[in-house]
Amino acid sequence: MYNLARSLLFKLDPEVSHELSLDLLAASSRLGLNKLLGGLPSTKPVDVMGLRFPNAVGLAAGLDKNADAFEALGALGFGFVEVGTVTPKGQAGNPKPRLFRLPEHEAIINRMGFNNKGIDHLVSRIKSHRYPGILGVNIGKNLTTSVEEAAADYLACLTSVIPYADYITANISSPNTPGLRSLQFGESLAQLIAPLIEARDRYEAEQGKRVPLAVKIAPDMTDDEIKLVSDTLVEQGVDGIIATNTTLSRDAVIGHQFEEEAGGLSGAPVRDASTHVVKVLAEHLKGTLPIIGVGGISSGLDAVEKLQAGASLVQIYTGFIYQGPELIKEAIASTDAYYRERDLGI
Ligand SMILES: Cc1cc2nc3c(=O)[nH]c(=O)nc-3n(C[C@H](O)[C@H](O)[C@H](O)COP(=O)(O)O)c2cc1C
Repeated sequence: MYNLARSLLFKLDPEVSHELSLDLLAASSRLGLNKLLGGLPSTKPVDVMGLRFPNAVGLAAGLDKNADAFEALGALGFGFVEVGTVTPKGQAGNPKPRLFRLPEHEAIINRMGFNNKGIDHLVSRIKSHRYPGILGVNIGKNLTTSVEEAAADYLACLTSVIPYADYITANISSPNTPGLRSLQFGESLAQLIAPLIEARDRYEAEQGKRVPLAVKIAPDMTDDEIKLVSDTLVEQGVDGIIATNTTLSRDAVIGHQFEEEAGGLSGAPVRDASTHVVKVLAEHLKGTLPIIGVGGISSGLDAVEKLQAGASLVQIYTGFIYQGPELIKEAIASTDAYYRERDLGI
């Protein structure tokens, strides 16, 4: 079924087919058809960051930037859905074309640039919903906000969504907002994260609900840089690390007609780099912080490889575009089996 839909969708411009698919999913929600999409399979839940995830497989940020279709996407089986990246003000993103398919590599290059309708729209969408899984909100800064002023944008987004999100992710690793990745290092990182942690703790003290804060990092770092970043995140008191975003490397797609296109490369070519980051983090953190592994998952085995490297949960984006809902089912079955065997000590 998805193969047929895909062959039609892939005839369209990538962004047009993206919008059309989201519109169809949002319409299915409005018409009350989500049950027909399958729903959450009954699996072994996974406890991470103080939350109970119905299964270990989530939708990565960037597909449903405005939270317009997350209930229908969740109904496809994802145990958690991360909406966003959202910024305080709506913004158009980079000029088109900005999304390129590389089917030979099961990959995508994108330089969307945080196109989104802004935080007020997203809040109106998530204020009340019927998705039984875990809802994450991924936050960022507006293009017009300088890197020095970035903390205010992240804080504005966090305080707006905290009553409605199950967890919040600070995205400091998109390659498509100039200077954003510099926030991953040293004093800039501490200065960005500290007010977010303070706001998380204040909300918990006042409302009695802890909304964990995760930070999403890039794959394009040396092992020493990964360790330094994770040390700062532990010191600051974040609840989890999402590894990784897209890569700037083109090593795996040399010679492709889109090789020279600026932006982040995702899908199969980023798989090993992302898994490496998960492994370095896991060995360094020794269980002090949970890791969500994302990058190039296109089979159940790839998902399990992330868990074996040290992740507790996984997320998928590009593999889902190429393979559709079957991949979600396969990844859930494989990660579920991994956790059951681990519990039995097999
Ligand atoms: C078109 C596109 C848009 C994306 N937008 C975002 C985004 O807004 N925020 C974010 O944190 N990650 C974004 N990502 C990165 C994904 O969430 C994910 O980290 C990355 O693609 C690696 O996973 P994958 O290989 O399964 O796609 C985007 C990826 C793609 C392909």
